[in-house]
Amino acid sequence: MRTGKNRTFTIDPKRTEAVREQIQRGKGIYGGDITRMPTRQGFAHDLTFQPAPEIRRHPEDAAEEADKSAFLRHTPLEVEIGFGRGGFLRHRAARFPHKHFLGFEIHKHLCIDMADRIHQQGLTNLRICFEDSRAALPSLLPERSIDRAFVFFPDPWWKRKHIPRRLLTPVFLDLLYPLLTDDGVLSIKTDVLPYAEIVEAMFAEDPRFVLRPEFEPIIFDDFAPTEREVYCLRQGLPFRSFCYTKNPNAT
Ligand SMILES: C[S@@+](CC[C@H](N)C(=O)[O-])C[C@H]1O[C@@H](n2cnc3c(N)ncnc32)[C@H](O)[C@@H]1O
Repeated sequence: MRTGKNRTFTIDPKRTEAVREQIQRGKGIYGGDITRMPTRQGFAHDLTFQPAPEIRRHPEDAAEEADKSAFLRHTPLEVEIGFGRGGFLRHRAARFPHKHFLGFEIHKHLCIDMADRIHQQGLTNLRICFEDSRAALPSLLPERSIDRAFVFFPDPWWKRKHIPRRLLTPVFLDLLYPLLTDDGVLSIKTDVLPYAEIVEAMFAEDPRFVLRPEFEPIIFDDFAPTEREVYCLRQGLPFRSFCYTKNPNAT
């Protein structure tokens, strides 16, 4: 991932609105049409939510749906968006076997790798979704069903034409807010410092959220860092970390 040296980081409200409309129509980030995601061949839309290692098979039976619905009822869930290699989420799922975890990732090879690792570790409380989280989250989960949401080192999407792919936007806050429990925490890390500034400004303008740095040690304790975090630590690259909760005074 590029760190954006000598690059400008722009916000384009028009493009943000375009993506809001796209998501409201249930569309994902690749060309706005979820069925056109380049790596999706062979994956039916409703079969992306698979217990490991079944991500490779395509059973279109009712049992699969029943299993999915049963899993999603184990709320509140912890959700990671863009889990990459997935070390953090697997570590957390292993530590809290009675909680349930859901990871989203739009790269198929990462989903397959994660599914294999989940299977090897015997983690039955962690499922993954090969999907643009922005389209999938609101359709999969009911209100107040997430008590921890993790967004670690999201892609910055520097180019103007790629801004609709950026995850941390007001559109994302609108879709996540109702899904968080009243004491739910959204945790964000980024090493793209201009992105961090935009994130800070976006939350500062949104009265529904409050910054809660005291959650950092509670959440992170000694959990496995993500791949990008390990890279930053090794290279001595600075990164920022934020925890937000719902503002109890916001109506
Ligand atoms: C820079 S990587 C960081 C991976 C990992 N979180 C880490 O810290 O090492 C960002 C990841 O987010 C995934 N991603 C980007 N947009 C996404 C979206 N809308 N829904 C789900 N995953 C997404 C990308 O495929 C990529 O793997």
